[in-house]
Amino acid sequence: MDVIELQAILAKEQHHPHYLLQMLRLVQEKENYISPQVMSFFAEKLNIPLTKVQGVVDFYSLLNTTPRDYHILFSNNIIEQLQGKEQLMKQLMSKLGVELGKVRADNRVCIDNTSCIGMSDQGISVLVNGLTITNLDEQRISEMVDLIEKKIPVSQWNAQWFEVKDNIQRKDQLLSTDFIAGSVLDKMKNNTADQIMEILKVAGIRGCGGAGFPLDSKWDFCRQTPADERFVVCDADEGEPGTFKDRILFQSYADLVFEGMTICAKIIGAKQGFLYLRGEYRYLLDSLEKILEKRRDQNLLGTAILGDSNFDFEIKIFMGAGAYICGAETALIESLHGNRGVPRRRLPYPVHQGYNKKPTVVNNVETFCLAVKALQMGGETFAKLGTEQSHGTKLLSISGDCKKPGIYEFQYGVSVREVLESCGADISNIQMVQNSGPAGNSLSPEDFDRKIAFEDVSTTGSIMIFNKDKDLLEVIQNFANFFVHESCGFCTPCRVGTSIIKNLVNKVRKGRGSNVDLKEMQDLSILIRNAAHCGLGMTATNHISDTLKKFPQIYKERLHNSESLHPTFDLDAALEDARQITHRQDAAAHLSA
Ligand SMILES: Cc1cc2nc3c(=O)[nH]c(=O)nc-3n(C[C@H](O)[C@H](O)[C@H](O)COP(=O)(O)O)c2cc1C
Ligand code: SF4
Repeated sequence: MDVIELQAILAKEQHHPHYLLQMLRLVQEKENYISPQVMSFFAEKLNIPLTKVQGVVDFYSLLNTTPRDYHILFSNNIIEQLQGKEQLMKQLMSKLGVELGKVRADNRVCIDNTSCIGMSDQGISVLVNGLTITNLDEQRISEMVDLIEKKIPVSQWNAQWFEVKDNIQRKDQLLSTDFIAGSVLDKMKNNTADQIMEILKVAGIRGCGGAGFPLDSKWDFCRQTPADERFVVCDADEGEPGTFKDRILFQSYADLVFEGMTICAKIIGAKQGFLYLRGEYRYLLDSLEKILEKRRDQNLLGTAILGDSNFDFEIKIFMGAGAYICGAETALIESLHGNRGVPRRRLPYPVHQGYNKKPTVVNNVETFCLAVKALQMGGETFAKLGTEQSHGTKLLSISGDCKKPGIYEFQYGVSVREVLESCGADISNIQMVQNSGPAGNSLSPEDFDRKIAFEDVSTTGSIMIFNKDKDLLEVIQNFANFFVHESCGFCTPCRVGTSIIKNLVNKVRKGRGSNVDLKEMQDLSILIRNAAHCGLGMTATNHISDTLKKFPQIYKERLHNSESLHPTFDLDAALEDARQITHRQDAAAHLSA
């Protein structure tokens, strides 16, 4: 990349050090890698240490430092793994002569795994140079090989491959909304912030990003904190494996999200908002920029919104670059500052000190949409939806063993069984349902009459279904690998603990485990949960504790010997090469014979 192009990127991102990640991402998009010269350039121009730039590049998994023309990342979601992702990946690697994670000798192509890219309802999926391709099959793989060997740029590949469907299977109040951009802002135009907050209080919306924190309290805390500036942030990092609801909200309901952010700005007095969009959803960026542009034209963004001279607000889209931890609000704010996404302690909370150390509201995409819905239909009507403690509706991303994977909207209070019936799952054949991704909880058939609601089965919206023919230890291994990959490495219990758990699961899977290992897994799960610095570590072993409790037989069946200790390392297998070289296969040459 020449200096003129780099200067243009600097200018586009206003020479602001906070936008370092955005600059690096733009380079990655153009070049497929970030060279040492590019890093030095930004370090010098932004007046920041080179080590900081290198640290940022190193942290985000969608950025790389070695050249390649085609960068292919397979979504490592367990649903896709069980559908045959591994075989397709091996096929592609063998046809292209590539080793996993290594750039081919001619610097042309690299193939690797990446964490779930939010497409688990659309067959096996990959990112090619940052763009999503779904429904991969052997035919598509062969065609990809051809295109790559013929050096055809990705922009000229079959456009149909890049189509991502909404897959909405069931609508309730939110998804059946007939929404005209600006209509709720217009409806609230003559209302004071207090009056709007009153409607939202009655509605009783709870956050959809995980913790279920009341929206009205969060917005109140923020607006009541004395400050000269406040910020609104929409958390669209959606990295929990199996979740894809925010994707469809942006694909087909983006105006609802932006309207929600703008209403929030009006209430708390913010002039700047950020949409933090996960890097894996790059395919959405251009259409979202167009919608923002249209809203500016309609005076729904910018200065004096709808003629109110006291109401200025702008939204900037900030792209992530492959780090699940950046969905955690304090890590997200670090990332917005152009740093590695390492979470900080949550005191002070972002509503008191967030972006630029100013009071900041961070809400999930769906939460902003619910705020608009509640204002549209009235607080009391909204509050009648759902249960006493969980008002409104919830979007569920359903994938795995069912006839109709996709998005389902239900009112809170619906039973797990009803959800499973709706998507065409064979209830009598289900072994486990994983709710809220690997960090959530594992449901057995005994849980199916429980309710989806904050007071019972609380959910971020990911529902993955596994029938009895699935090897649950393979599922657990996939989850354990995910946390090792996504731990930010800041604190020892999480960094080391997740690795030990992964090795223990592997050991049990291979039939070398004992009861001692199961006890160690249990103890470590508790230790990591209690000692971890942030929510990632605190939830990283939920699937272990849950499955040890609810599905003990899947572990016990694999134990080598229930009481005694066995080493993780298989020395006899490791000596196989030596035996072959020396032509020894007799019993005495085997340690375990
Ligand atoms: C590891 C981790 C990942 C998270 N990922 C997301 C995410 O992708 N989207 C999201 O809205 N919240 C995510 N959260 C929760 C946020 O920290 C925060 O609570 C949420 O955005 C608040 O919005 P809400 O009140 O609307 O739920 C995550 C939390 C943790 C600990
Ligand atoms: S718990 Fe894990 S993700 Fe969180 S700060 Fe510690 S190492 Fe990072």
